[in-house]
Amino acid sequence: MKGIILAGGAGTRLHPSTLVVSKQLLPVYDKPMIYYPLAVLMLAGITNIEIISTPYDLPRFRMLLGDGSSLGLCLTYAEQDKPRGLADVLLVSERHIGDDPVALILGDNIFHGPDFVDMLRRNSRDVDGCVLFGYPVRNPEQYGVVDVDADGNILGLIEKPEKPRSNLAVTGLYFYHNDAVAIAKDLKPSARGELEITDLNRVFLEQGRAHLIQLGRGFVWLDTGTHDALIEAGQYVEILERRQGVRIACIEEIALRMGFIDSESCHRLGRRLAKSPYGQYVMDVAAAF
Ligand code: G1P
Repeated sequence: MKGIILAGGAGTRLHPSTLVVSKQLLPVYDKPMIYYPLAVLMLAGITNIEIISTPYDLPRFRMLLGDGSSLGLCLTYAEQDKPRGLADVLLVSERHIGDDPVALILGDNIFHGPDFVDMLRRNSRDVDGCVLFGYPVRNPEQYGVVDVDADGNILGLIEKPEKPRSNLAVTGLYFYHNDAVAIAKDLKPSARGELEITDLNRVFLEQGRAHLIQLGRGFVWLDTGTHDALIEAGQYVEILERRQGVRIACIEEIALRMGFIDSESCHRLGRRLAKSPYGQYVMDVAAAF
């Protein structure tokens, strides 16, 4: 399975913080935001990942993560010159996807919870159609919303409805069969001029090929699109990390534990950052492995 991280957008709701820096490069406590979605794809076992951003921001992502080889990954980069919508990303990334299934994750979404790794591995296998992840929120009207029957089957998908029929938001993580590329090609732009991911998912729904995994109580899904949301996400990570002494979305540790790199390489990655507690942690993890 291939992976895609969408790290585009102008981040206008975070101005002036994002006037010259991409939102997905801002820190969420101790690491750049993009580490969190990258960690999710790595935990799903995906090593071949394309990062999509604006022509202005893309060079910074490349400086941060390079070709990924030091993490045992193959990272490529592609430009989305204008915000043409989430589904357009599948067209931008068509060559990268090739004939494979694909996992798309939004660069500002943070997922954390028990059994998440098992859930990722189980559901990324043999994807027929699409797999969506639903999460109950207080403000569903700000998201794509999924309406379900008593058995959890999807009844409808609506993008930012004024009167949501459920409190289940569709999170920014999507697993797709390769057919998604062909479906994206047939989509028409919405009223705001974008190829909507919800329209693409609805095609799979009409084909009876849209599957929903509900992320329940105790699971954390955060987005980071506003100043308040950003600080809350940072506080969540800080509390967890300080209390438990572990670091979440530490891509060096994940690469080591997933077997993408050996402990020597992990130690080298930590040494580059040795003046920070993050770097010390990476070296400690490598030494204890
Ligand atoms: C996008 C999707 C929406 C989804 C959300 C998750 O919204 O269009 O369906 O619920 O991401 O973060 P946007 O962030 O573009 O408003």
